[in-house]
Amino acid sequence: MRTNSIGYMDIPVPEGIDLKAEIDRMRKEKNAVILAHYYQTADIQDIADYVGDSLALAQWAERTEADILVLCGVHFMGETAKILCPEKKVLVPDLNAGCSLADSCPAPEFERFIQARPGHTVISYVNTTAAVKTLTDIVVTSTNARKIIESLPADEKIIFGPDRNLGSYINRTTGRQMLLWEGACHVHERFSAERIKALKAEHPEALVIAHPECPKEVVEQADYVGSTAGLLKYATQSANATFIVATENGVLHEMRKRNPHKTFIPAPNDLEGACGECHYMRMNTMGKLYNCLKYELPEIHVDEAIRQKAIRPIQRMLELSKQLGL
Ligand code: 13P
Ligand code: SF4
Repeated sequence: MRTNSIGYMDIPVPEGIDLKAEIDRMRKEKNAVILAHYYQTADIQDIADYVGDSLALAQWAERTEADILVLCGVHFMGETAKILCPEKKVLVPDLNAGCSLADSCPAPEFERFIQARPGHTVISYVNTTAAVKTLTDIVVTSTNARKIIESLPADEKIIFGPDRNLGSYINRTTGRQMLLWEGACHVHERFSAERIKALKAEHPEALVIAHPECPKEVVEQADYVGSTAGLLKYATQSANATFIVATENGVLHEMRKRNPHKTFIPAPNDLEGACGECHYMRMNTMGKLYNCLKYELPEIHVDEAIRQKAIRPIQRMLELSKQLGL
């Protein structure tokens, strides 16, 4: 039996039970709400009360009246929910579900980077730890980053972290010269421009759609660039019937559900046999979700002093998003 850092035991699920029915029963009994990111497995997305991208998850967390919030995503998403709703119990099915992008920006090093460059507004992607958020003026997600940055005065000096690909995409598309932290997501970073080109030659009718966390060479080939929710909306509204999708594969489930007659092809990456899946996101399973609701563990805790500082840039993001109609 494996135990994780808070002593939560990965207890085997009783044999023969109807997981879906049990999860549903417990969520009602406990006034719990299940929020899932689009990168979760299909069964988790299907049972969730809400499925969304990082921005939507934060917005739902802020307004839910449930007593328990089960965040099916990765650690920073649960942490963001806890920062916004300290009075609620925030659970994640697997506390070890981290994020390579958040890991690429340790708070002490980011602090040194900021201190060495005074006079800058610090904008951080939501994929960061609470400690990094305490060093931040405005949090953004891929859905609102460009619009929030465009809403700031043109001469405002900005440090953007941690995703260098999203940062350089915003610099290229807005003409800004934000200073970038050199972080990246191991899933999006690995999509291969060369192999996407070859796939496009096989499917000339397909449109390429890409997440801005992908490298420049991939983004440059895309017919549309957008956040997870943006890609979903574009694919649904487009008259085109075939798409090559350069983002985490989990979103293909919702794309296919909303567009049963369209074809979605996962973009290839540069690792032979690899599949564009985030192994952190896939750590959550229906069995862990069942145990999580049953034992109300593992729970996310955030130190109160950190929470009080980290909430400010998140609230700023939520206010700006509202003003910008996002
Ligand atoms: P969005 O949900 O903002 O598209 O972010 C993608 C991502 O990598 C989340 O981990
Ligand atoms: Fe982090 Fe990338 Fe996984 Fe998103 S897909 S959780 S950015 S490692």
